[in-house]
Amino acid sequence: MRGLSHAALILLALSVAACGSRAEAGAQRALGERLFTRHCASCHSTAPDTVVVGPSLAGVADRAEQRVAGMDARTYLETSILDPGDYVVEGFSDVMPRRFGETLDTEELRQLIDYLSTLN
Ligand code: HEC
Repeated sequence: MRGLSHAALILLALSVAACGSRAEAGAQRALGERLFTRHCASCHSTAPDTVVVGPSLAGVADRAEQRVAGMDARTYLETSILDPGDYVVEGFSDVMPRRFGETLDTEELRQLIDYLSTLN
């Protein structure tokens, strides 16, 4: 029992040391998630295989990498948000709003793409 709690203490010390950067990353993710809830969640779920109006965005970070040959994931995600008509996901209608280039500023767009990039 004593040995166990000693190991637990070491683990605790290690996680406290890592805490600063992790808290920062967590705060950034929360900002992106809040934007997602406000602007996107009415049509997109992040639960796997759950279609609302648009496709589930579970795993979109991995998918985005393969959607368009030669296009990296971030560029694909950005294009999907700013010019949704450029690549329409098979089986869905081209109904995603075109206004995100006006409603989101550059910083919000970055936070949103950062958040989507965690959905892998
Ligand atoms: C009115 C409903 C609606 C809203 C709001 C909406 N989308 Fe979409 N979205 C869709 C539909 C429908 C598709 C599938 C057709 C297409 O590709 O345009 C889609 C496709 C996508 C794709 C491509 C997914 C893939 O697997 O390739 C991404 C990424 C995406 N949306 C992100 C977002 C983000 C981020 C927001 C919020 C800023 C958002 N959408 C808001 C309806 C919506």
